[in-house]
Amino acid sequence: MKGKTVVAFASKSGVTEEAATLIAKTLRDNGIETELVNLRKDKKFIASAYDNVVVGGAVRCGKIYGEVENFFKRNNLSKKKAGLFIVSGGGGDPKEHDSALEKYNGSITRQFSDVNFVSNAAFGGMMKIFGKTVFDNRDPEKVRKWAEELSIKLKK
Ligand SMILES: Cc1cc2nc3c(=O)[nH]c(=O)nc-3n(C[C@H](O)[C@H](O)[C@H](O)COP(=O)(O)O)c2cc1C
Repeated sequence: MKGKTVVAFASKSGVTEEAATLIAKTLRDNGIETELVNLRKDKKFIASAYDNVVVGGAVRCGKIYGEVENFFKRNNLSKKKAGLFIVSGGGGDPKEHDSALEKYNGSITRQFSDVNFVSNAAFGGMMKIFGKTVFDNRDPEKVRKWAEELSIKLKK
């Protein structure tokens, strides 16, 4: 089926997984056949069966989870459309959003400049230490809206 899409994500404490699940649901609601793949479980996932890939991961200690970079290294995406979303504390802070997008998303889009990235987003996250919330700047409505716009681009 044309337009078949995979949302592949790497998440350690669940926030990126939550966003990926919402993105997959929104794409399905817009008529796109979509599957969800956990890159920390399916470490060698190959996306050849899909027309589009949407890839997400989070940031810890200034670095995007390695599964994201490895996904792009492993897969030939030359005929596919790609979406990228990165979750971080900075991504959900209005003062830091743009630099997070430039630094983290940019590190992937610059490294894999041959990939056709049709959409690219930085989202907020949540951090807990010893059960106490240090910050929570998640914004599911922003994630849903991004996925709505993405679905239009993937169908074109
Ligand atoms: C140990 C640790 C280090 C982190 N380092 C950063 C960081 O350098 N920059 C940032 O913006 N957010 C940082 N964060 C926030 C994470 O990006 C945020 O917790 C995110 O929601 C994690 O996503 P996940 O739940 O999908 O693993 C850090 C969080 C943890 C727990």
